[in-house]
Amino acid sequence: MASQLDSLRLHSTVVADTGDIDAVARFRPQDATTNPSLLLAAAGDARFGHLVDPDMDRMCVNFGCEILKHVAGRVSTEVDARLSFDAGGSAGKARRLIELYGRAGVGPERVLIKLAATWEGIRAAEQLEREGIHCNLTLLFSFAQAAACADAGVTLISPFVGRIYDWHRQARTVEDIPIEEDPGVASVARIYGYYKKHGYATQVMGASFRKPAQILALAGCDLLTIAPELLARLEATPGAVERRLSPEQARELDLPRLALDEKAFRWKHNEDAMAVEKLAEGIRRFDADARALEARLRARIAA
Ligand code: E4P
Repeated sequence: MASQLDSLRLHSTVVADTGDIDAVARFRPQDATTNPSLLLAAAGDARFGHLVDPDMDRMCVNFGCEILKHVAGRVSTEVDARLSFDAGGSAGKARRLIELYGRAGVGPERVLIKLAATWEGIRAAEQLEREGIHCNLTLLFSFAQAAACADAGVTLISPFVGRIYDWHRQARTVEDIPIEEDPGVASVARIYGYYKKHGYATQVMGASFRKPAQILALAGCDLLTIAPELLARLEATPGAVERRLSPEQARELDLPRLALDEKAFRWKHNEDAMAVEKLAEGIRRFDADARALEARLRARIAA
């Protein structure tokens, strides 16, 4: 019998969420995603020492190029979190990353530039998309972020499941939340339904999973980016996976279109306490991990 992983591939594009190149090679995903925390872990691994570079941008691109040897599709490379509230700075950094990829012989069609889904990140993405640089808007927790990204014409969004689940578990002081009530799963399902109902081209890639049930509950989502440990669990489990999300179901949903200018975006996002906290914390965490990585690179050079 086919594994849950093979069965899932019939409904959604499977993406590997890792900087571990051997894991990418093993699971044969279509695309791969990295972030500063994943690169911090990978850069500390002796297997990938040859990819480490004192220039952070070059190092991110080195990992991206190596990953691209094992995927037919795209790699996501994240812009420095310090630029999360700087649209011009984010766009400049994205152009530099694309230029470095170009020098390595990799065209822009194989790269997604990851930007935090702040108002400024979304504006940077809107401009970059016009220039043919494709973007993946990450740290996406609120419906306002999703609506604004679609209107900006970004290629792809990464709504987080696990971090929403973490926030609600902590708020309710419970060990687990049953899958039928999982607020992270419900968030991605709603965004997917909204995009399909209104015919947006922006792809939805569910991200940040804590357990296989969350992944299976989103079968049918355009893409799902999954950490190697969870890919391994899905691979080890036989069984057919039922499609949960589809454009046909989405047409029936009562989700009116939302038009958000800057004031309305900030207001609506601010109404969602979980999203405000998780976006801010996510930027702090990615920044802390990027700085830890820089310090490690400096120490390595000094040695
Ligand atoms: C992928 O794009 C995200 O950065 C990743 O899924 C986040 O996962 P985490 O919440 O487990 O850190």
